Amino acid sequence: MQFYVTTPIFYVNGSPHIGHAYTAIAADVIARFHRLDGRDVHFLSGTDEHGQKVEKAARDVGLEPQAFTDRVSAEFRTMLARLEVSNDDFIRTTEPRHKQGATALWTQLAANGDIYLGHYEGWYAVRDEDFYAEADLTTHPDGTRTAPTGAPVEWVREPNYLFRLSAFQDRLLAHYETCPDFVGPAGKRNEMISFIRGGLHDLSVSRSSFRWGIPVPGDSDHVMYVWLDALANYVTALGYPDRTGPLWRFWPADLHLVGKDIQRFHAVYWPAFLMAAGLPVPRRIFAHGWWTIEGAKMSKSVGNVVDPLALVDTYGLDPVRYFLLREVPFGGDGDFSARALVGRMNVDLANDLGNLAQRSLSLIAKNLSGLLPEPGPPSEEDRALLGMAAALPARLREHVGRQALGDALEETWRVIRAANAYIDHQAPWALRRTDPARMAAVLRVLADTIRVVATVLQPFMPGSMARMLDQLGVPEGERDLSALDRPLAAATALPPPQGVFPRWVEEAA
Ligand code: MSP
Repeated sequence: MQFYVTTPIFYVNGSPHIGHAYTAIAADVIARFHRLDGRDVHFLSGTDEHGQKVEKAARDVGLEPQAFTDRVSAEFRTMLARLEVSNDDFIRTTEPRHKQGATALWTQLAANGDIYLGHYEGWYAVRDEDFYAEADLTTHPDGTRTAPTGAPVEWVREPNYLFRLSAFQDRLLAHYETCPDFVGPAGKRNEMISFIRGGLHDLSVSRSSFRWGIPVPGDSDHVMYVWLDALANYVTALGYPDRTGPLWRFWPADLHLVGKDIQRFHAVYWPAFLMAAGLPVPRRIFAHGWWTIEGAKMSKSVGNVVDPLALVDTYGLDPVRYFLLREVPFGGDGDFSARALVGRMNVDLANDLGNLAQRSLSLIAKNLSGLLPEPGPPSEEDRALLGMAAALPARLREHVGRQALGDALEETWRVIRAANAYIDHQAPWALRRTDPARMAAVLRVLADTIRVVATVLQPFMPGSMARMLDQLGVPEGERDLSALDRPLAAATALPPPQGVFPRWVEEAA
């Protein structure tokens, strides 16, 4: 069964930061989990390169927009690679395949009578690439006005093409009614419904006061509004308008993962564009929260922008991936601090999981010549722990299926904590003299439990979990969820155990 998941395409007006890394890592975990579960996955990311904001950023550094976007888009590609994000494709909105597809989408909307030439007069925030009503603005003592997001607005008056969004109000509401899972988390669904019920105005979908965009078919005085251009990426990357190509089988998308700031574009405008074009709408749009840094909003002027690659250089990739998804429930806001990251590294990773594996594997190395023992006759406690471990894949499928990535980790840690209690209680080191057969049975229970844990954690921490599975002697082709039904071969020679998660010790100042 197919599974198509997307990240938002990133604006190339500045370098990647932790917020971008977060969206990408979360989508990666979801893509990897579905692959592990045997699904035919297509995972798309890319860059959003047109519009006034990008044009201005290029001008500010004295570059032509294309040269500038080439450079910044490459930085995003590098970020994804360094974060081990496993996207299958990367689309740039300046690529011919995208321009052709977006042009075809426009032509289709116009042919159906849903785009007409009009006039726009109102407030526009370049930073958000969004239109605002007067009533939503804050007026400052110096007379300037800002949007609710804090972005400065400017008065725009120009001839524009408009999309007949108002005509889709009822169809959108009906869709929300029949597909209760269309938008998540649940609170966001209600927010979107109230926005639609509040009345939809036709949407300006072209701009005529600057040039950096895809020309409107048949009227090159206009370029397409950057959000129509950008949203189209999810279908142009599949080959739209050609619906007979090999990738079209992935449409409609199973999941558009987005930040809460851009939910409305995805959950209102995008389905309306698709309905107008006669295309099926995505199955689900899930919005995650925002990170602040040590309590403050991240901003270039404050100088607290966190570079994800610098973090990875310092702490290692998997601790960063783990921290971001574990620290806050997915869908909520979070606060980033190095202290909290180090806490998670030392407690969850080094103590709980790292020690569990290290203790179990070194006992096998020392007392059983490094050979994986046979399962013994199970005790009540063995059954309880193995039962918890066996239930994990199904529990995680459920959590990941509703994007509850923090819950998936918490559920896994429940098993890890139970395994630590089990090892303390069974004390296999003491059984070595008194009951070696029982010691072997206990170590096998532990090896089997760690195997399940390491298997289900691969999407979150691919590198470290690969190393843990290597140490358990799990063959490379036997690491997906279905392989868990097949027991490991007894007497497999395990490599010498090595710590996977070192403790982080602050250097003395
Ligand atoms: N180009 C648009 C998306 C178009 S999709 C058709 C865009 N780009 S963005 O680069 O500004 O944002 C990309 C993603 O990063 C969004 O999901 C956004 O929510 C996320 N984040 C940006 N800053 C963030 C934080 N401080 N915290 C968490 N995520 C944040 O929007």
